[in-house]
Amino acid sequence: MAQRVLLIVSGGIAAYKALELVRLLRGRDIAVRAVMTEAAKQFVTPLSLGVLTEDHVYGALFDLKDEREIGHIQLSRDADLVVVAPASADILAKMAAGIADDLATTLLLATDKPVLAVPAMNVRMWHHKATQRNLAQLREDGIHVMEPAIGAMACNEWGKGRLPEPVDILAEIERLLAEGPGAAEPHPLLTDTTRTINAPDLSEHNLFGRHVLVTAGPTHEPIDPVRYIANRSSGRQGFAIAAAAARAGARVTLVAGPVTLPTPPGVTRVDVETAREMAVAVEQALPADVAIMVAAVADWRATDEAAQKLKKDGSGKPAPLALTENPDILAALGQHPQRPALLIGFAAETESVIDHARAKRTRKGADWIVANDVSGAVMGGDSNAVHLVTADGAESWPDMPKTAVAARLIERIADALAGH
Ligand code: C5P
Repeated sequence: MAQRVLLIVSGGIAAYKALELVRLLRGRDIAVRAVMTEAAKQFVTPLSLGVLTEDHVYGALFDLKDEREIGHIQLSRDADLVVVAPASADILAKMAAGIADDLATTLLLATDKPVLAVPAMNVRMWHHKATQRNLAQLREDGIHVMEPAIGAMACNEWGKGRLPEPVDILAEIERLLAEGPGAAEPHPLLTDTTRTINAPDLSEHNLFGRHVLVTAGPTHEPIDPVRYIANRSSGRQGFAIAAAAARAGARVTLVAGPVTLPTPPGVTRVDVETAREMAVAVEQALPADVAIMVAAVADWRATDEAAQKLKKDGSGKPAPLALTENPDILAALGQHPQRPALLIGFAAETESVIDHARAKRTRKGADWIVANDVSGAVMGGDSNAVHLVTADGAESWPDMPKTAVAARLIERIADALAGH
């Protein structure tokens, strides 16, 4: 059954972006029922929202017909997730205080479903102590609160308070919906406990508003219609990094070679087969704030892909197979006019791991190299012992699951982007 979102649109210039969000949600087959505050109606019309949701748009609390047919409690419980986007300073304050003076706030008080608030407001309103106090309260109450983006505001000021891009909100919604039964438990506002459900740590290691580009897996380089050159990469480390970046709130593009792994929630995946396809997909995904090149790209491809299956002729001569070097995607990004601010490569070595990684960092124009010794069972395995080589030196991490390597790397990336 299609998943359902109850979208509450509050007032603010960013309300028009709710239309784009509805379009994206519908594109993912997620049903949307919209509720507007009176202030929201000053910015977008119920008609345009209704056309996009293909449903009645709710607004007035004392709509007798709706009370009889649905009732506001029902409205708030039909959904899998309640999303407030944009969430104005005013509605956040009411939510924090438990005020229910219109349909939107009444639904928010009555719901037993997870709630995601996506704030958008003037930078000074965002930084005001009252707003920050309300946000802290909401997070403590188990409400998921996205961080606003930083940038120019409609009011000619610059700073934090912009509504995150609709694709980023979509990613967060998909992430929460994918959490399934955990996220569907009643939130603490109703159960009156202090437990926070799946509340992302938004205070630190935050990648909201950032675009993270990851390559993962092997590449397959065709020799003829049935044979190809490949390697043992499973894609697990790269997928774990993409998943961790999405959890930290980033918009993530994962360019994946041929692997059998599921796409992590909130990640946009581009499947490719060859190194050259991977190079094109990476180029098309730019600009990115961070690129993490985890793929084990094949160094060579067959110079000519045979149109028919190659045959042995029994003569004992070497195989008719000439090889050509593949483009180096990481090195190309290092030179690219749109080079990501943080460019990270991986190095799989079987000897002198750190020395080779240092040399690779310089040769490829990368900022960091994550190096590992692949003489054991790293490729295809679950754990990894890596060394992080930066301009400041090398740091060796203990052997840990690939998911833990991913989480730690994403923390380091968020800190580096935040200038720590
Ligand atoms: O040169 P080497 O293959 O050891 O470099 C490994 C690093 O370079 C990895 O980050 C890998 O993803 C990247 N790479 C690439 N394109 C290639 C070869 C390697 O992006 N053709």
